[in-house]
Amino acid sequence: MIEPIAAIKNPLLRAFTSASLGFTIVTIISGSIIGYINPKDKSALKYGIYSSLLATVAGGIFGLTVAEKSNKLKLSLDKQQIDKSQNQIWKDWRNFIVVRKVKESEEITSFYLEPQDKYEIPNFQPGQFLTIKLDIPGQNKPVIRTYSLSDYSQYPQYYRLSIKRELAPPGLSVMPGIASNFMHNSIHEGSVILAKPPNGKFVLNVQKKLPAVLISNGVGITPMISMAKATAQLNPQREVYFVHGTRNGNYHAFREEVLGLAGENPNLKVHFRYSRPELEDEGKYHSQGYVNSALIQQLTTQNAEFFLCGSPNFMQSLRDGLQAWGVPANQIYFESFSKPIAASSQKSVTTTDESVTTAEIVFSKSGKTLTWTQEDGNILEFAENNGINPPYSCRAGICGTCTCQITEGEVSYQEEPTAAVDEDSVLICISQPKTQRIVLDI
Ligand SMILES: Cc1cc2nc3c(=O)[nH]c(=O)nc-3n(C[C@H](O)[C@H](O)[C@H](O)COP(=O)(O)OP(=O)(O)OC[C@H]3O[C@@H](n4cnc5c(N)ncnc54)[C@H](O)[C@@H]3O)c2cc1C
Ligand code: FES
Repeated sequence: MIEPIAAIKNPLLRAFTSASLGFTIVTIISGSIIGYINPKDKSALKYGIYSSLLATVAGGIFGLTVAEKSNKLKLSLDKQQIDKSQNQIWKDWRNFIVVRKVKESEEITSFYLEPQDKYEIPNFQPGQFLTIKLDIPGQNKPVIRTYSLSDYSQYPQYYRLSIKRELAPPGLSVMPGIASNFMHNSIHEGSVILAKPPNGKFVLNVQKKLPAVLISNGVGITPMISMAKATAQLNPQREVYFVHGTRNGNYHAFREEVLGLAGENPNLKVHFRYSRPELEDEGKYHSQGYVNSALIQQLTTQNAEFFLCGSPNFMQSLRDGLQAWGVPANQIYFESFSKPIAASSQKSVTTTDESVTTAEIVFSKSGKTLTWTQEDGNILEFAENNGINPPYSCRAGICGTCTCQITEGEVSYQEEPTAAVDEDSVLICISQPKTQRIVLDI
């Protein structure tokens, strides 16, 4: 009965119909009761009239509000369904608006992204990254890069990326970092950028019991923030050590945010180490020098899970130091933002050095069949040198951006892929042909 009333669009007509219905029902019921009990009793008649009037008023009010409530409920159910289906279909690029841009340090700036379509965004595992695509003037194709999600919420309303401005390496007269400088200089609140769903295997399982030791330097702090926040929210009993190294206070991003989190969570222990502190940094850091395994041994316990993110040399020396201390390799996880370090405990695909010396590569979508030799390098480089421009980001087997389908033949990997690879897919940035002929869908 409610739905037909709610379906009436005109609110006055809806109130009138509902009031009449209330009046009719209550009058019939009270009339029957009075007629049955004592039709001559005037006070019963009076109460009968009062109930009918009350039912009329209640019916009128109900008629006025029912449509609004039912519409709200319907809208919310519709939205939930659309949100669900939007997330189910979000596999490729989706538009995000930069809703906030916040300078975190001398070189790191955060970008808060909300989906332009206003639908829900999926949760992610702490440590995962987002792949973004930028149209940068002067570049002959879109620039794709991956950035760790630097915040955490179980039901995220936005994603946060925190990006370091990459300068040209000292002593080299080359262009400074393309994407990071474009983000810093040209992406502002209101700008729209494209992003793929969260991805990545460098993740912390918050539910584990072993203490987690999060060790970073520089911009490697980004996934650690997400890991520390997720643990504080979902498993606050777990002991977490947050050890971060940076040059000095000017370069120290998220200092207050991490200390604030530790203030609310006694199981989160923080240590900041500055390599070149300035006078005004007094009291802002815990020790001076570089973060190394000796410091970790002082602060933490061997029986823990260790997560490393930072410059390649930093991670290499820490991995060596932790293993020498006796930490099993399968308790050390790491992610490199550039070239990965060798030999890892996280490997799922076996590296092979079985590439042939020459092979025919069919790039089916580009309609090109070309002869590859070992001097041509990996398949991505070979494709680029022949006018084919597949998407890529890390060029190191980490992000999965260069994944393409292989419909014939096999490849061998020059390095262990960190990104997940399906059986019929290959990462062309770190592979070479293993058979005389391979067919790729690019
Ligand atoms: C999984 C993952 C997560 C990441 N998360 C983050 C993050 O949270 N925050 C973050 O800031 N970064 C992150 N990165 C790194 C990021 O993806 C980019 O690699 C980084 O921003 C640099 O990109 P760019 O386009 O600015 O620099 P590029 O243009 O790629 O250049 C990189 C460097 O090479 C130098 N260069 C250019 N040409 C030459 C040349 N001919 N010879 C030698 N050097 C040259 C540039 O000057 C620059 O210093 C992550 C990377 C990965 C793989
Ligand atoms: S470009 Fe990142 S895995 Fe190949």
